[in-house]
Formats: sequence, structure tokens, C-alpha cells
Amino acid sequence: MKVFVIAALTADGFIAKDPKEPSTAWTSKADKKHFMEVSKSAGAIVMGLNTFLTIGKALPGRRNIIYSPEPVNHRDVETTTLPPQELIAKLEKEGVSVVAICGGATIYTMFMKAGVVDTIHFTIEPVTFGSGLNIFKEKISTNLELVSSEKRDNSVFLEYKVLKS
Ligand SMILES: NC(=O)c1ccc[n+]([C@@H]2O[C@H](COP(=O)([O-])OP(=O)(O)OC[C@H]3O[C@@H](n4cnc5c(N)ncnc54)[C@H](OP(=O)(O)O)[C@@H]3O)[C@@H](O)[C@H]2O)c1
Repeated sequence: MKVFVIAALTADGFIAKDPKEPSTAWTSKADKKHFMEVSKSAGAIVMGLNTFLTIGKALPGRRNIIYSPEPVNHRDVETTTLPPQELIAKLEKEGVSVVAICGGATIYTMFMKAGVVDTIHFTIEPVTFGSGLNIFKEKISTNLELVSSEKRDNSVFLEYKVLKS
């Protein structure tokens, strides 16, 4: 099983200006294409309810799993409350081999803390917010190995391997 985080960051390190705003409001065409390609390579995508509500629908061609305390009344969406390790084990049993963790801050933090993330895909977008939502809500101290870096249009795409101690 492979688990990756995928996130777009402003050049000053934020994932959102306003929690209710979808990240697609400020991310580039190149990032939207990248997100589509990379997330479609996963058998399942996982996100929190707040992020799902900013999108408002299931993303097609992928199994959509939403962390939510209540069932979400939407087509093609599954909800879960399982701890990360248990969700990953369940998905593995069901034949999923790659899982994409798609945010937001609460879900990125929970999966990083659980130590189940192998790879991180960051897109650095050419904007600043000055203040906003950080990717992690707690101290997450991790060593990373840079696997690849690429400039496309005005954005930078980084892939890191998470070094597990
Ligand atoms: N730039 C990017 O790449 C990117 C990507 C994704 C999202 N975002 C942004 O991130 C923001 C949202 O982040 P966020 O941290 O506010 O929210 P979030 O991580 O999207 O979702 C948090 C929600 O998940 C639920 N949840 C968390 N753990 C759970 C568990 N174990 N069981 C059941 N439910 C659980 C929470 O329920 P409770 O309320 O009960 O705790 C809460 O409703 C938005 O602005 C979005 O645009 C940015």
C-alpha cells in the first residue's frame, strides 16, 4: 500500500485563505491538471468534510472517502470515522493499493501524525496570503527526501519521500 499527501501551497506556505473557499479559487490551471492526474492514479481519495463541502460533489473516476462525524447525503461518496491506520488496512483488504490524502489541514495532520504517509506532492503557487490556514495544525516534525522538482508555467511541483525513523 502506498499513501501520498497532495496539497497546493501559496509561496508563503498556506493551503487556504478562508476555510470555506475551495482551493481551486486560487490554484493554477497547471495545478488543477496535476491534481487530476496524480489523484486519478490512486484507488481512493480521502478528504475531510470541510474540504468536501468546498467542492460540493464527488470527484469522478476516483473512490471518494470523506471523514465526517455524520453520513454525507451525496452520490458516490463514502464516509468514515476510522483512525488512519485502520482505514488504510481496510482499503488494502478491499484491494486498493494507492491512497491519496487530499486535505484539508485536519486530515493532513491526522495522517502525518499516524505515520502512514509515504510521499508528499506539494505545488508551490505564485501567490501570497500573508495569513491563512497552515497545512498542519500541530507540530509535525518530519524529514523528507526530495524526489523531483519541476517548474511548469508559473508553478513549482515538488515530490518528497517521507523518511520514516
Ligand atoms: N491547498 C490545498 O491543497 C487544499 C487541499 C484541501 C483542502 N484545502 C483547504 O482546507 C480547508 C479545510 O481544512 P480543515 O482543516 O478546515 O477541514 P478538513 O480537514 O477538510 O475537514 C475537517 C472535517 O473532518 C471531520 N473529521 C476529522 N477527523 C474525523 C474523524 N476521525 N472522524 C470523523 N470526522 C472527522 C471533522 O469533523 P469534526 O467537526 O467532528 O471534527 C471536520 O468536519 C479548506 O479551506 C480547503 O479549501 C486546501
